[in-house]
Order: sequence, then structure tokens, then C-alpha cells
Amino acid sequence: MIDYHVLTLFPDQVTTYFNTSITGRAVTKGLVGLECLYIRDFATNSYGKIDDTMYGGGTGLLIQCEPVYRAWSSVVEKCENAGKPKPHTLYMSPKGYVFDQKKAHELASYEDLVIICGHYEGIDSRVIDEICDEEISIGDYILTGGETAAIVVMDAVTRLIPGVLPNEEAYTNESHTAGLLEAPQYTKPPVWHDREVPEVLKNGNDALIDDYNHTAALLETMLKRPDMFDKLELSEDELKKVLALQKSL
Ligand SMILES: C[S@@+](CC[C@H](N)C(=O)[O-])C[C@H]1O[C@@H](n2cnc3c(N)ncnc32)[C@H](O)[C@@H]1O
Repeated sequence: MIDYHVLTLFPDQVTTYFNTSITGRAVTKGLVGLECLYIRDFATNSYGKIDDTMYGGGTGLLIQCEPVYRAWSSVVEKCENAGKPKPHTLYMSPKGYVFDQKKAHELASYEDLVIICGHYEGIDSRVIDEICDEEISIGDYILTGGETAAIVVMDAVTRLIPGVLPNEEAYTNESHTAGLLEAPQYTKPPVWHDREVPEVLKNGNDALIDDYNHTAALLETMLKRPDMFDKLELSEDELKKVLALQKSL
């Protein structure tokens, strides 16, 4: 069970996506909780202004410290009152650690995650330094807001929560779990546009299928992510099988 507390100026963007499909079912089943805190509700004025121009100049507006701090404090207080540990706090930011499967596993171990989404030019750095445990980026590019990035992180973390997928195998055999990409996969029909499903996958011999899939996963990684392939330490036998499979295709 994990509870997400998303601090945002666009709560609908987060809930519309998250309450759909597998992540939506996880909410309905009570396996994850999602609350969005609308940063404007924590403004220090009666008219909901939460941003201002930047010191030193520059185009655009920056979200101010106090509304973000107040929203965050309300979550911390709620967790305290419920006898839960202090929530782990993330700021979605292009300056952060580039999100990966290892980080998804790490984040899945927290009971409560506060996810802060910037917008416009971002958020005053002082509040980030004061309350955030880490900054997370979803890649080296700039988005208009942290909401889409938060959704990416929540989606990847939610799949790892027990009960969300049918069984553990559904996520342990996937790309990036063991430094490999997944082997190519096929469904019916057995032949499509003259492309045939490999014979071994149709013969029902589990040991042969596992062996083939391992070799096919290595080849997939070699062809599509040579950077990952270079980090693998393959036995002579594995390498031989990969090259033989490549030749056979
Ligand atoms: C337009 S961006 C601000 C970019 C900021 N001025 C900079 O250059 O570092 C607005 C917000 O989108 C989010 N964001 C943008 N790119 C992101 C990325 N690659 N990963 C995660 N969040 C991102 C952050 O929350 C950020 O505060």
C-alpha cells in the first residue's frame, strides 16, 4: 500500500490519467491512495495568487515558497496524526536524478510519497532545499509542468505494489529489471505477413523456452541498447548462442 500526495496547480491532469486503467483499478481496490493538493488552496492571500516575478530578472513567473510549504506541512501533519512515518518528498525537476527502474523499486518501499509538481518557471529554490528529499527528472528535456513527470513515476511505482499486477512474474520478467531488455514476444496468429513465431515457443517445453528467451533477450539488448549490453558479463556459451541466434534470423 502506498499513498501519493501530489502538490499541483493542475490536479485534473493528474487524476484524469491516474484514475484510468491498471492504476485506476489499484486506487479502486485500495492498493494505492491518491490525493491532489491544489497549491492555490494554500495561498497566503484571499485571491489565490501563488507565483511572482523572479529576483534578478528573467521571463515568466515562479511559484512561491509559502504555499508549497503549507501544502507539504498539511501532509506531514496528516501522516503524523495517523502514526505514520514522515512522507518521502520528491520534486519533479529536470535537474534531478534521471528516473529508472531501480529508483521505482526504491520509491515503492515508502508508505507515503509527496510529489511536488512545478509549473511556469518552476518553484523558488529555497522551499525545495527545505523540504525535498530528492529531485527526480524523467529525462533531459523540459516539460511545461511536473504533472506528466509525476504520472510517469507513479505509474512505474504502482505496478510494483503487491496485488496491482496478477503476480510478481508480471513485472520481474520485464525490460530493465535485470539489466536486460525483454525478449521479443508474440501472440496469435503463428504466421503474420510471412513472419513466423519461433518454433521453440510453440513446442511447450518450458526449459527450452526459458533458454531461448534468455538468449533472445540478450540479442534484443545487443541490438537495441548496446550501452546496456556492454555492461553485461556473458559466459562464452551465452555469447555463442546470441551470435548463433542473430545469424539464424
Ligand atoms: C518549464 S519547467 C521549469 C524549468 C526550469 N526553469 C529549468 O530550466 O530547470 C516547469 C516544471 O516542469 C517540471 N519539469 C520540467 N521538465 C521536467 C523533467 N524533465 N522531469 C521532471 N520534471 C520536469 C518541473 O516541475 C518544473 O518546475
